[in-house]
Amino acid sequence: MELSKGFISVFMSAISNCMLYSKNHAFIDELIEKAFSKLGVFLKEKDHFEMMIIENDLIINKNPAIGIGLQGKNLMKRLKRKGISHIEFSKGITLQELKKLVADISNMGKELKSTPHIKIGIVDLHFGFTIDGDSSTEKSLSCFTSEQLKKIEEEVNSISPFKEFHVAGFEEIVFQFVLMLKKKIDILKLLRPVRAYNGLDYNHATNVAVLTLFQAQALGIKEEFHRDIGLAALLHDVGKLFVQKGMHKKESSLGLKESEAMKLHPFYGAQYLAKINDLTYLAPIVAFQHHLRYDGRGYPQLKTINMKQHICSQMTAISDSFDNLRITTPYRRALDVKDALVTMKTKDEGLFNPFLIDNFIRSIHLALSG
Ligand SMILES: [Fe+2]
Ligand SMILES: [Fe+2]
Repeated sequence: MELSKGFISVFMSAISNCMLYSKNHAFIDELIEKAFSKLGVFLKEKDHFEMMIIENDLIINKNPAIGIGLQGKNLMKRLKRKGISHIEFSKGITLQELKKLVADISNMGKELKSTPHIKIGIVDLHFGFTIDGDSSTEKSLSCFTSEQLKKIEEEVNSISPFKEFHVAGFEEIVFQFVLMLKKKIDILKLLRPVRAYNGLDYNHATNVAVLTLFQAQALGIKEEFHRDIGLAALLHDVGKLFVQKGMHKKESSLGLKESEAMKLHPFYGAQYLAKINDLTYLAPIVAFQHHLRYDGRGYPQLKTINMKQHICSQMTAISDSFDNLRITTPYRRALDVKDALVTMKTKDEGLFNPFLIDNFIRSIHLALSG
C-alpha cells in the first residue's frame, strides 16, 4: 500500500501543478516521470493498478486506502468532479499515456477517454435515475444514490451470454454494499422492490447479495472473503438468462414443461460463470447449489456425486428464499418481513442450515429493533 500511496501523492502533485503551470513545464515532466516509475515498479509484479471511488472512499487495488493524505483526498475530489469512478492502469503503459491523462484531468473542460493501457470508468453525475417512472418511491426505499442505482442497473442488465463479462463493475457494486453495511444502515432500507418473480431481476440479485453479505457480517466471517461472497450471491440467478427466451419474464404461473426448463438455470449459470476469468470460484458453486437443500435434496441433483451444499450457497439460499417470500406470486401474496421470517423458520426441516437460519432471523430482528 505504501508504494500505491506514493504513486497517488506524486500523481496528484503533477495534476495540481499542471493546473498552475503549462503542461510542458520541466517540473511537471519530472513529477510525471516519478509517478511513472512508481507505477512501473508496481506493474512489474501485477498486471493492473486500479483506483476506484466508492462514496467517499478511495479503493486502491481492491483495498480501502487509509491515510491517503491531502493529495489523495484532492485526487478523489478532482476525479469526482469529472465524474470518474474508476481508473485502471495496465502493464505496457507509456509515459505519453500518463502525461496525457495528467493533462486531461487538470483541464476541467476536457473529456477523459480511455487509452490502450488506461481504462477510465465514468459515471454521469448529473443524471437522475428512475425505475418505472416513480423516482420518489425508489428514493425513499433506498439508501443508494441515484448514480449508484444507475450503475447497479446497468451492470446487472449488461450480463449477456453474447457479451464479455466485466468483473470489475460487479466488484464495485459489492464494495458499495460492504461499505453500506459497515455504516450500519438499516438492512431493510437496502432492499429494493422486486418486480418479476421469475426473472433475472436486478433488484432481486442485489437484494440477495446485500442479505448474504449481511449474514456474513453477522457471522463474523473475515472481511477478506466478503468480496467473493457478495459477487457469488449477486450472480446466483444468472443462469435464468439462458432459459428459454421470454419465460423468465412471465408473470403468470409456469407450466410443467416451463418449470422443468427453469430448473436448469443453476446448471446454465454455473457453466457460464465457470468460464469467466478473474471471477471467484464461489460464483459457479453458488449458482449451481442455491436451490439445493441443506439435507442434500433439492435441485439439480448429480447421479454420481452426493453433493454437500457450500456454506456460501447455504447463506445465499436463505437470502434468496427471504427475498422471494416478499414478492407476490400466482400462488400467494407477498409476505411482510415478520411473516416471511416465521415462514422460513417453520418450513420443513432440512431446508436450511439450522445455525444459519437462526443467525439470519436473529440478525434481522436485531436490525428491526435497532
Ligand atoms: Fe434461482
Ligand atoms: Fe434467486
